[in-house]
Amino acid sequence: MDWKQIYKERLCTAEEAVKCIKSGDKVAFAHAVAEPTVLVDAMVANAKAYKNVEINHMVSLGKGEYSKVEYKDNFRVNSWFAGASTRGCMAQGHGDFTPVFFHEIPGYIRKGLFKINVFMVTVSPPDDHGFCCVGVACDYTMQAIESADIVIAEVDDQVPVVYGDAFVHVSKIDKFVESSRPLPELGLPNIGETELTIGRYCAELIEDGATLQLGIGAIPDAVLHALKDKKDLGIHSEMISDGVVDLYEAGIVNNSQKGLNRGKMIVAFLMGTKRLYDFADHNPAIEMRTVDYVNHPVIVAQNTKLVSINSCISVDFMGQIVSDSIGIKQFSGVGGQVDFIRGASMSLDGKGIAIIAMPAATKKKDGTLISKISPYIDQGAAVTTSRNDSDYIITEYGIAPLKGKTLKDRARNLINVAHPNFRDELKEEFEKRFNAKF
Ligand code: COA
Repeated sequence: MDWKQIYKERLCTAEEAVKCIKSGDKVAFAHAVAEPTVLVDAMVANAKAYKNVEINHMVSLGKGEYSKVEYKDNFRVNSWFAGASTRGCMAQGHGDFTPVFFHEIPGYIRKGLFKINVFMVTVSPPDDHGFCCVGVACDYTMQAIESADIVIAEVDDQVPVVYGDAFVHVSKIDKFVESSRPLPELGLPNIGETELTIGRYCAELIEDGATLQLGIGAIPDAVLHALKDKKDLGIHSEMISDGVVDLYEAGIVNNSQKGLNRGKMIVAFLMGTKRLYDFADHNPAIEMRTVDYVNHPVIVAQNTKLVSINSCISVDFMGQIVSDSIGIKQFSGVGGQVDFIRGASMSLDGKGIAIIAMPAATKKKDGTLISKISPYIDQGAAVTTSRNDSDYIITEYGIAPLKGKTLKDRARNLINVAHPNFRDELKEEFEKRFNAKF
């Protein structure tokens, strides 16, 4: 059948589309910017029709109304990455979290470890050949479309067309709902003196010709600010944000020295402002690939001079890195942190390095300062990156190398980059713990 005929027959309203969700179903959304908010709103409006529908997603940038306590009999969140809209329901007990490396999510979906009855996604309008683009987040989307019992697509004419493994034929989609709304934007991070100093320390470890992976938040963007004197950088990163656009336009990121996919930025999802989405639109310099490719440590390892830059909540004296929980509270998820740290460590050219960059301290709501370097991890916190994997920790006070270091030397290096207010007490803890002089 002609694709236009298929599209026409499957076109419906959001209200009609969400009627295919049944009580007890597992419903997954596409990730981050690709969350189909018109469909999600319609699903929440139809909440009374459902009992015990499980909701799965990675980062959600939407309102997350389904996670409110008033809907606890209708929807049960089981998130693969906690966020502002879902932390509450986890803490209240009617939501849950499943730990998973990002690169393994497509495989979990394929194997049925993550069963999806209904997958909801945002796509571009079909092209002349009947293909829609999922390019703002093709991470696990392609596998979810393949494996879900039913696929509902919100066809938004503001979705950019981004090249790569990001096109799905209309015949693979069961229902289409048209919309025209701007994509969610991630506000530009606040970059202060602390972040800029951290960025400068990170830049000391980044050689010309390096390939970068950048995590989320102010620190990766600050690192990009510190790279204005570098040459021939490349990008192989789970995500990119607006900072990369500046470096590309300045000719600093040109992907010319990459060992793998030379000439192209390889990315699994985009998260930034409209400027980034416009930049990505029909841009042959960017290639979207699924996350089981982009984040697979074996693929990461094939990049040249790979430098991964991520952040964390806290690190203990042994170099155990806590990135996704604060005590027993699930705060985010592992995302691609360990995928890239392991990939860097396995790098074929032996030049991969993995940086965890963070301010040395953070402030509680009441203004009290807390050291992010501590003798022990908080009770109930999960170790995201093990002490065997941790490589460099960077704060605004310097660089602490951990690989190849003894337990005592790790602790010494970390205390030397801790916030000065805490160094004396950390040294005392060191002496108690190791029964040795600092
Ligand atoms: N103890 C208690 N609270 C802490 C803390 C600590 N040691 N460290 C941070 N916090 C609090 C902060 O005070 C802040 O609280 P607020 O929201 O009330 O202001 C909150 O945690 C977030 O801290 P912040 O430093 O602003 O976080 P961020 O936006 O820079 O993100 C991570 C840092 C670690 C949460 C984030 O990088 C993450 O989720 N990483 C794991 C996944 C990952 O690395 N993926 C890589 C590819 S995307």
